[in-house]
Amino acid sequence: MSVAIASAAILTTAAAVYWFLNRHKPVKHILSELRYTIDMQGAGVGGLIDDWVNIRRNKIVLPDASRKIAVVTGGARGIGAEVVRGLLKANMNVVIGIRKPELAQTLSETMENGQNLTVFQLDLQSLKSVKQFAENVLKKYPAIHILVNNAGIMFGDYKLTEDGIETQLSTNHLGHFYLTHLLLPALKKGGTFEESARVVNVTSCAHYPGKIYFDDINMKEHYDTTAAYAQSKLAQLMSARYINRLLDQEGYPVKCYAVHPGIVDTDLFNGTLFRRLFPWAMKLFFKTPAKGAISIHHACFDKDLEKKSGLYISNCIEGISNRFSKNVEHQQRLFEISCELIGIDANDFGKDL
Ligand SMILES: NC(=O)c1ccc[n+]([C@@H]2O[C@H](COP(=O)([O-])OP(=O)(O)OC[C@H]3O[C@@H](n4cnc5c(N)ncnc54)[C@H](OP(=O)(O)O)[C@@H]3O)[C@@H](O)[C@H]2O)c1
Repeated sequence: MSVAIASAAILTTAAAVYWFLNRHKPVKHILSELRYTIDMQGAGVGGLIDDWVNIRRNKIVLPDASRKIAVVTGGARGIGAEVVRGLLKANMNVVIGIRKPELAQTLSETMENGQNLTVFQLDLQSLKSVKQFAENVLKKYPAIHILVNNAGIMFGDYKLTEDGIETQLSTNHLGHFYLTHLLLPALKKGGTFEESARVVNVTSCAHYPGKIYFDDINMKEHYDTTAAYAQSKLAQLMSARYINRLLDQEGYPVKCYAVHPGIVDTDLFNGTLFRRLFPWAMKLFFKTPAKGAISIHHACFDKDLEKKSGLYISNCIEGISNRFSKNVEHQQRLFEISCELIGIDANDFGKDL
């Protein structure tokens, strides 16, 4: 009884402090932020439990994929670097898109089969940069087998990119959506009916509390950084599902997957209260980047997945995804808005024009 009273008192005090600090905001915004904060903690704890329960499923035997081409965004550090390490170990030629291409030499010297690594400049916060990156890739490799849309950011202040897109949406979803559009003709050439080419969107369990702000996708009316991260990760999941559906209907040998890599100790958490308060807990309870890469390799290579495209994967099995993400009308609406934002007709998506 006394525990219940103490918990209620702590929660009431926390809510009162939260309200006081945010009292200049309309109540509906305070309540929405509070809901996102609580739900995001719930998604994080759920993700951690899922990682522990399924720890033994995180296994991969890398195949020999010589003469095949993979493209990875953000492969210089964190989970992406481990994804690249694995793809190189599988004897693939790997192209990475990073913001600091001057790291190329160090990266290829420190990775096995590093001579098979190509580095081009890519800033996902600029559609012009995405286009230039895609042109560089296509000049070198007209056929591609795997695209891993890995790069990402989490939280931060409200900012619009040079194209007028909210930065988390641009980095996590829209830049990758545009890149997928530009590289799809090459992926269609790389895939065969025995072995499809694959697009792997690295999403997150943080999509779970999310929704798409269809009428204000850049969140100009009210910015909540947690809601923006959730929206961007949900958008990656919904795009993987919808693009997979389109490709399937059109009969192309390209499959799309969305992967939650687990809760992983990387720089993504820099600047969060959690890292400041519990850096030791991250070392103790979170996956290492190498473990985080395993589900992504699984999505790249697992043969059984050929029949289960469009899947949301967590710890190498189908994960629990939110209902909003499965609604095809919502997926189509997001697809059309995304096409509009990158300046193409929805019917031209992924076509070599
Ligand atoms: N860590 C987790 O617990 C976790 C959980 C679920 C999902 N994820 C997802 O996993 C992916 C990888 O994250 P991580 O944990 O490895 O984070 P990280 O260590 O912070 O790495 C993020 C990567 O994204 C790149 N990047 C950021 N902004 C970019 C931009 N504008 N253009 C091009 N590249 C950009 C970074 O490149 P620079 O070196 O140039 O900054 C870096 O390589 C993200 O999509 C994240 O949302 C992570």
